[in-house]
Amino acid sequence: MRWIDRFDPETSLDDVTPDLPIVVLTGAGISKESGLDTFRDADGVWRRHSLEDLATPEGFARNPALVQGFYNSRRTQLATVQPNPAHQALARLEAAWPGGVLVVTQNVDDLHERAGSRNLIHMHGELAKVRCLECEAVAHHLADLDEASACGGCGSTGRMRPHIVWFGEMPFEMERIWAALAGCGLFVSVGTSGTVYPAAGFVADVRHRGMAHTLELNLEPSEGASLFAETRYGPASLIVPAFVDELLGRL
Ligand code: APR
Ligand code: ZN
Repeated sequence: MRWIDRFDPETSLDDVTPDLPIVVLTGAGISKESGLDTFRDADGVWRRHSLEDLATPEGFARNPALVQGFYNSRRTQLATVQPNPAHQALARLEAAWPGGVLVVTQNVDDLHERAGSRNLIHMHGELAKVRCLECEAVAHHLADLDEASACGGCGSTGRMRPHIVWFGEMPFEMERIWAALAGCGLFVSVGTSGTVYPAAGFVADVRHRGMAHTLELNLEPSEGASLFAETRYGPASLIVPAFVDELLGRL
């Protein structure tokens, strides 16, 4: 396995040999063209709703019905949207790339798995799952949650919450993510503003290790754009398939 001995700002896709693993971080921008709003664009979710009231443990404790209603409407919306060519391209890349592909998504929608991605981590949780505050059981659940909802594990009612990571909570599977970043030959970021940690710090971590090419695929430069060795801008449904076709064309 050929590693780049030290970080070389001139790295390019030419350095990414097929034996090297790829890690792809995705954010809300990859699902925008499927019809799901992002968070910080002009029409984003946090432009219309209070993040403190809807995406913190304190907000949930203050007004659980308000929070359940917010996630119930987003959960219901899942049935009305479809994966777009960007999700499908990443699934194609995973199926064909010899070195392996891990998609680490900040998104809580199920569009990556519905597009065919299997090696996938939802670091901020999933709309289609709920968790019991009594016994921590996690279950697949697409219906509305309310105070009458019962846990399939311990049977308690009124103790179910969305299986979503709120601000101030620890994202899921971080050890597995750090290990994948340490060993990848290519780190690609798609459709994220690069404003929320730890995901926003992944590119710096990869570059610090100096062993991988880093590529930002976004509609516009993210907060971390200057940290990427290569950047390409445009709608994900166009630039992600083009990137995947280019990479697979080298096999
Ligand atoms: N194609 C590609 N990128 C797009 C598109 C598109 N069609 N539309 C928007 N974008 C880009 C925006 O330019 C922006 O940089 O997607 C990014 C979306 O940024 P955010 O709205 O901040 O979403 P994200 O980065 O995923 O937020 C991270 O914050 O609120 C928390 O937990 C939530 O996971 C979320 C996290
Ligand atoms: Zn329970």
